[in-house]
This record gives sequence, C-alpha cells and structure tokens, in this order.
Amino acid sequence: MLLVRSQHYLCRFTKSMIHSRSITSSTLYVHWPYCRKRCTYCNFNKYISNSVDHDRMKTCLIKEASTLISQSRAQVITSVFFGGGTPSLAEPATFQSLIESVARDNVLSEDAEISMEVNPTAFQAHQLKDFKEAGINRVSIGVQTLKSNGLNILGRDHSVQESLNCLEAASTLFPRKVSLDLIFGWPGQTMDMWIEELKQLQSLSVHTMTCQILHVCDKHLSLYQLTVEKGTQLYSQVQSGKLQVADTGLSEDMYLHAVQFLEQNGFERYEISNFAKEGQYCQHNMSYWNGGEYIGVGPGAHGRFQPNGKYEREARIQTLSPEAWMKEVEIRGHGTRSIVPLSLHERLEELLVVGLRTKWGISHKAWSLLCPNQSLAALTQYTEFQQYFDSGLLEINSSGLRASNEGMNIIDTIIVDSTVPPQQWYCLQHCVHHSRQSLKLSWSAAVFQVDSVLPEPCHIKSVDDLAPQLTAWYDVCDWGP
Ligand SMILES: C[S@@+](CC[C@H](N)C(=O)[O-])C[C@H]1O[C@@H](n2cnc3c(N)ncnc32)[C@H](O)[C@@H]1O
Ligand code: SF4
Repeated sequence: MLLVRSQHYLCRFTKSMIHSRSITSSTLYVHWPYCRKRCTYCNFNKYISNSVDHDRMKTCLIKEASTLISQSRAQVITSVFFGGGTPSLAEPATFQSLIESVARDNVLSEDAEISMEVNPTAFQAHQLKDFKEAGINRVSIGVQTLKSNGLNILGRDHSVQESLNCLEAASTLFPRKVSLDLIFGWPGQTMDMWIEELKQLQSLSVHTMTCQILHVCDKHLSLYQLTVEKGTQLYSQVQSGKLQVADTGLSEDMYLHAVQFLEQNGFERYEISNFAKEGQYCQHNMSYWNGGEYIGVGPGAHGRFQPNGKYEREARIQTLSPEAWMKEVEIRGHGTRSIVPLSLHERLEELLVVGLRTKWGISHKAWSLLCPNQSLAALTQYTEFQQYFDSGLLEINSSGLRASNEGMNIIDTIIVDSTVPPQQWYCLQHCVHHSRQSLKLSWSAAVFQVDSVLPEPCHIKSVDDLAPQLTAWYDVCDWGP
C-alpha cells in the first residue's frame, strides 16, 4: 500500500488531466480461476484444484499485467477488479504484490476502486482483514440466496449463517463499500418465498444472530436472474426434468417486485441488475457500461483496449487453462489467445447494448466520440427504434439516449430488436446478464472468436446457439461441468 500512497502527487496531477481527457485511462480486470467447489449453475472459467501454485500464479499475474499495460495506451488505471472463480481463495500477498506492481509501473489513481469478489465461507471471511491490508477497498459478496434449500440446489459451499457473518465482518472493514450478489428464479423458488427473502434483507435471524442486511450491506446490491447454462449440472438437471427453473412470467414478476422493494428501501436502479444508495455505484462496471477501455489479466480474462500504435480497439481473450496460461506468460510475457479488432459498427453496437442498460443511457458526447458524422438523434429515424420512441420506452433529450423507467424493465427485448440478429441473441443475453464478466465477451466478439478456433478446452458455452457453422468450434470445447 505504501507504493500506492507514494503516487499521490502524481495522482493529483493525472486526475486533472483525466478530466481534461488528455490522458488515456483504463481499468484492470484480474481473473483468479480457482474455486473450492463447482456450483451447479456456473459456467465461468474456473477450476477446482487442491494444489494451486500461489507463487507461480503471483509471478505470472504480475508479469502479464505489466506486459498488457505496456501494450496498451493506458497512462492511468482507475480501477482494479479481482473476479473469478473465487479470488478470495488467493493469498492476499498475491494481490498486494500485483497492486504494488501496477502502482510502480503505471499510475494507479489515488482513488482507484479496488474490488474483489468474496465467497462467504468462514475461512474467506476470516481473510478479509488481510485483503484490506493488501489494498482491496471494496468487496462484492456472493450470498446468492438467504434460503438454505436454495444454497443447496445452487451447490454453494457456505451456509446462510456464514453469509451473515461474512457480511458483518465486511461491513466493519469496508464501510459503505460492501456489495451483495443475489440470484432469483432458482428451482423451487416461489413468488412467496422470494417476497419473504426480500423481507429478510430487512431483518433476518439465524440462530443467535439477527442481521439487518440492508443496514449492514447498505449501499450496493446486484440482482441476477438464474441463467441455465449449457454444460452445467443444473442444465442436465433441468433437461432431464429433475428440476424446473422459474418460467419467464414468474422471473419477470420476481424482478419487478424486487425493483419495487429495493426502490422503497432507498436503492436506485442504476443498471438493470445493479442497485445503489448515495451514489455508491460500482466504478469498475460503470467504466464498462460507458464504453471505457479495460485490460484483462489472468486465465480466460477478457479485455478491450486500443494498443499503442494501433488505430482500432481490440477484443482480447487470455488462454483459458491456468496451466497453459502460466506457461505462455513465462515464455512470452502474456497469455493472449485471441485478438479481434473491433470495427466502428461493432463498437457503436456495444455502446448501445451496454449503455442502454444504465439509467443514464448513452450521452451525445460518448456517441460522438465514436461517431462524429451521425448524431445519436438520427437513430430515431430507424424503424427498429421507432416503436420504442413512440411508446415512450426510449427517450432522447439534450443529455442523450436512454430507456425510460418502464423501458428498463424490458431493455433486453429492446436491445435485441434494435441491434442484434436473432440467432445471436442467446450469446448477447449471456453477455449482458453477467454484466461483470460477460461484457468481456460481447456478442460480436464471440461471433468473431469462433472463427479463430481455440485449440484448448473452453468454457464459453453460449456461442453454441449462434449458428450451425459454429459446430466445429463447439466440438473442440470441453463442456463438462
Ligand atoms: C462467477 S461469480 C464469481 C464470484 C464468486 N465465486 C461467487 O460465486 O460468489 C459472480 C456472480 O455471478 C453470478 N452468476 C454466476 N453464474 C450465474 C448464473 N448462471 N445465473 C445467474 N447469475 C450467475 C452470481 O451471482 C455470482 O455472484
Ligand atoms: S459461482 Fe463462484 S464459487 Fe461457484 S463455481 Fe462459479 S465462480 Fe466458483
């Protein structure tokens, strides 16, 4: 942390430059690929291993971050996000060294948000203090559900009691900087159960402990509808008829009820799946949604940035398997597996897809930076958009283009109708749903990626539904849960 602090004078200087837009900024995503147990629904790039080589991972993460940052034009890193997998299973010293190295090589901004995803097991809650000392200043806790049977069905490796303990510990260590992840629509969950679960956020008693979660974790919450991903245990259970997930109607009702409940409790829906109080938005994700650059480090990490000396932004994906990735980083300094230059059209589409999910939408400024020759207002002339303007679901004004409150409720439909050919929708849905990780795989990048066959097992399954010609690529992938 000392190194981070010693950059203060530089940061004050750079901050004013960032605001004057004369300096290139980026965010950094770091993927920790290991988990203790496989959850039934999860198809993220993760591996169960009892013999993680922490020193080797540390050296490789630092090396790759340094290589990719130097390849990029980034003069300042405004946020770092440790995601996974389960980053809270890493050694705090690993992340501390990485943070210090970024601060040394680059300029880590003074107020950089440095987030980490946490699984609320007793062990990981115990480690939180060390992670704070390592430089983490915001945590996102994967509570998922407050129902024991839900945790069971989802295959989680913690109890409700452990979630509460972890939330308490986190809120003391990271006041105002604790977020909570919840999943709805899991098999067996009824509307009544969901209503009760939301009420439990206000007050929940487990054994001797009563916790007012919305007071403990009172500034940020992410809400995800359960997606049944191919290749997962849940997928087989649903396919075989053993389990049934909430149907579309029930899921929509659950979502709308939760939005209403959270708004009544003072939370602002600032993105389809994200709610905040007092402006405590996740800065890292805000940068994605505003079309900012990000550098992805670690096995399977995705990035989007314009490299030094090039004129186009590139979508990059790092090698998926940790072992192969480490070997590549050791030999050539990075494990970049795929690079896809993004055309202007793709970038505009991405801006629309991600921007419309936020309450602010897309500003005229953000649009004109990419597309100076055609105004955002020109979109109103396109028939694909027309019906949504006419019905008030989309609005355009002096700030820019955005979905109305009602429009936000059905934004996925609007986005699909307006921008994406139907056969690519599945992939897009996958992408926008898991906003953090999935943005790194926008539908266009996924389509391109299948052209460059990846000669190794891969866990990106949603491309399966894109088109028949993808079958060849699909065949080389290992989809096993
Ligand atoms: C990949 S997880 C990583 C964080 C951490 N390992 C955990 O499980 O809490 C990030 C978040 O994505 C969400 N997520 C993952 N798979 C999902 C799925 N199939 N449907 C809905 N949400 C999902 C969960 O809420 C989870 O907290
Ligand atoms: S949901 Fe989180 S803990 Fe579970 S397998 Fe996926 S990444 Fe690991």
